[in-house]
Amino acid sequence: AGYFGQARPLAGRRALVTSGPTHEPIDPVRYLANRSSGKQGHAIAGALARLGAATTLVTGPTVQVDPPGVRVQHVESARDMLAACQDALPVDIAVCAAAVADWRPSDCAPQKMKRGDAAELGLRLQPNPDILAALSAAGNQRPALVVGFAAETERVVEHAREKRARKGCDWIVANDVSVGTGTFGGDDNTVHLITDDATTPETWPRMTKQAVADTLAERIAERLGTAK
Ligand code: CTP
Ligand code: CA
Repeated sequence: AGYFGQARPLAGRRALVTSGPTHEPIDPVRYLANRSSGKQGHAIAGALARLGAATTLVTGPTVQVDPPGVRVQHVESARDMLAACQDALPVDIAVCAAAVADWRPSDCAPQKMKRGDAAELGLRLQPNPDILAALSAAGNQRPALVVGFAAETERVVEHAREKRARKGCDWIVANDVSVGTGTFGGDDNTVHLITDDATTPETWPRMTKQAVADTLAERIAERLGTAK
C-alpha cells in the first residue's frame, strides 16, 4: 500500500488463487502438461496475502517455492484443481492464473504403456472442467470478484473480451504471450486489464510478474474497499 493507504487493506477478506500447469495422466509414469512456470500465480497469491487477505493457493506442479503466509494446496490434474478450489469456498476474491490443460486423456492406462511395435499410436482426449467458469457460476458461493487471465498470441484484447463474456468472470488480465514478449517462463509480463466498468482496457507497461502481481492486488483492494 502507498504511504497514505492502509497497510493491510484486504484484512478480513478471503482469497483463492490458481497457479501453474496441470498434469493429465496418460499412464502411471507419463502425463500431458504445458510450459506454465507458476511465477505469475504464485506472485499474486503472495501479494494478496501481504495486503492481508487469508489466501489459499491451489497449484499444479511447479518449481516455485510456496509463498510465505499462504495456505498452499498442491494438485496434479484439472479435476483435482477444481475440487480443491471448491473446497476453498467461500472466498471474496478468486484469481485464476493457472494454465489448466484444456484436454485430458480419455483413458489413463493402469500400467506403464509398453513401446510395442505399432507404427502409430493415437491418444484420445476429452475436455477438462473450466475452473474459472465454474467459480464464476458458483451461485451463492460465487466470489464477489472473479479475475481470469487470457493468454493470447494475437488480437489480444478482442480475444480476452470475448473470454470474459464467455466465462462470466468480472475482470480479465489479458496476457500477450506472442513471441518476443518473453512472457512464458520469463520474468516479465505485458498485460491489459479489462474490468467490468471500463469500456477501454488499461494497458500496463511491460513490467515484472512481481510488479503485475502487486499492481493487481492493489487494484483488487481498491475495488473491494469501495464495494463493501
Ligand atoms: N481456465 C480454467 N480452467 C480451464 C481452462 C482455463 O480455470 N479448464 C482459466 C485460466 O486459469 C484463465 C482463463 O481460464 O484464467 C483463460 O484461460 P485460457 O487458456 O486463456 O482460455 P480457454 O478458455 O482455455 O481458451 P483457449 O485456450 O482456447 O484460448
Ligand atoms: Ca486454455
